Amino acid sequence: MDHDANVTPWVMVARDGGLTVRWVRLDPEDGTLDLASYAAALNARTRLVCVGHAANSLGTVNPVQRMAEMAHAAGAQIFVDAVQSAPHLLLDVQALGVDYLVCSAYKFFGPHVGVLYGRYDLLEKLPAYAVRPPARTPQKNGRRAPSLLRPSRVPPLRCTISPRWAREPRSMLS
Ligand SMILES: Cc1ncc(COP(=O)(O)O)c(C=O)c1O
Repeated sequence: MDHDANVTPWVMVARDGGLTVRWVRLDPEDGTLDLASYAAALNARTRLVCVGHAANSLGTVNPVQRMAEMAHAAGAQIFVDAVQSAPHLLLDVQALGVDYLVCSAYKFFGPHVGVLYGRYDLLEKLPAYAVRPPARTPQKNGRRAPSLLRPSRVPPLRCTISPRWAREPRSMLS
């Protein structure tokens, strides 16, 4: 159900940090997440729940609001991959109650940039793990190679949602 982009990086972080990854079962009958298995995977040592919002393979939309409540009750944070849901659903991160949510703007005809929402109080304390701008600009054939990590290279992104889309989300699709 999950895209590899929301699996392998966490597995690698866990490997680096000696952390345990617990997996949640999928109900093969209807392609939904097994919430009993999710509840069983959560405990006081759970730090982060990582889940996809919508699965492009099955069309499943996971109950992330409920999952966020359960994660928080266990003292964990929740990270949601909304790459497949952002183009189709109106996302209200506060109503969903998630701590982090990511999507890719190119999936809704934006530029090729990733979008990260994070609760400000958490982001403020979060150290960068692997993605940092290079200390020195790499050289190519004696010339400076463009750095994709320089924010100045990303065109400003202005997201406009028309009032009609807000009222009738399905009209976006017609
Ligand atoms: C659910 C989901 N997560 C993550 C990704 C990866 O996004 P990106 O192509 O921006 O790395 C995709 C790509 O299709 C996806 O469908």
